[in-house]
Amino acid sequence: MKKTIWVALPMWLATSHMAQAQSGEINMICSAQAAWCNILAVTFEKSQGVKVNMTLKGSGEALAQILAERANPKTDLWFGGTGDPHLQAAEQNLTLEYKSPTLPKLHDWAQKQAAQSGYKTVGIYSGPLGFGYNTELIAKKKLPIPKTWGDLLKPEYKGEIQSANPASSGTAYTMIATLVQLMGEDQAFEYLKKLHGNIATYTRSGTAPIKAVARGEATVSISFVHDGPGEKAQGFPLETITPVDGTGAEIGSMSIIRGARNMDAAKKFYEWALTPSAQALGAATLQFQLPSHKDTKVDPRVPDFRKIKLINYDYAKYGQTAERRRLIQRWEREVNSLSR
Ligand code: G6P
Repeated sequence: MKKTIWVALPMWLATSHMAQAQSGEINMICSAQAAWCNILAVTFEKSQGVKVNMTLKGSGEALAQILAERANPKTDLWFGGTGDPHLQAAEQNLTLEYKSPTLPKLHDWAQKQAAQSGYKTVGIYSGPLGFGYNTELIAKKKLPIPKTWGDLLKPEYKGEIQSANPASSGTAYTMIATLVQLMGEDQAFEYLKKLHGNIATYTRSGTAPIKAVARGEATVSISFVHDGPGEKAQGFPLETITPVDGTGAEIGSMSIIRGARNMDAAKKFYEWALTPSAQALGAATLQFQLPSHKDTKVDPRVPDFRKIKLINYDYAKYGQTAERRRLIQRWEREVNSLSR
């Protein structure tokens, strides 16, 4: 009998404590790198007294989960990941229209992202697409440094390149959309078919290829170049380059889920995440995207957009559900099905 009481009491205490904490919780999907997601959760929890339950998911996978939860949302807020699936979530009315008072303090690209979604998402960071390469492997294998998209098709790169899979990764979808805008759709698919022959692996997550290259498991990656300096800072022999023939950039975004159970906490996190001090946590964890708040201190390792040939990326068009689905299906059918 005594034993039962001793077992039951802590359980009761634990449950009652959980019930009290209910209003101070937020369920968040984070599609940025783990180190950044974790520091955001810990700092928000400590400074704002709201418990953060976090799940890490790539941009495409996050959208799939939010869609699956549509009738009964378990997620309150979605932080980070490429902007295209956030725009799709907005189009499908999965996310909440919310106009932050901080909007005027954000860079134009971040405000534009909000406006074109009907204020159902907002830009939190931006970063350009390019290549990562392992300086030691390039030298050892006597390979040239790729400078253009076309360079990646050279036969000497066969089996040396890693890219992510566009179905799960926003990075890889940004690559397809970039190539379509650069070359025209049919030519882009001809290019992707040839590139397929040189690809060693398509990874689930967008950052896996640059991490593999940093660790010497592949020679070249197609990646967001802001992921390079963090690997380099850890001592890996890695450099990045953006193609001289032009490239695209992501607008990493944040959205509140429509019907969120912890709506007040979600709005509180959203506002906090747009402050310069919260945005500075990115660089503090070696994440070097350009932050969206104009007053956030920009680390010198953030890629200098003025030195990069950027295309005029049509975020509205390539963020459409039908367009993304069609391009990914075409890639599965015409490219991924080919033998290597
Ligand atoms: C990394 C980058 C982010 C990007 C994200 C996309 O975390 O640092 O800038 O938004 O990848 O991830 P995904 O797995 O969807 O390509």
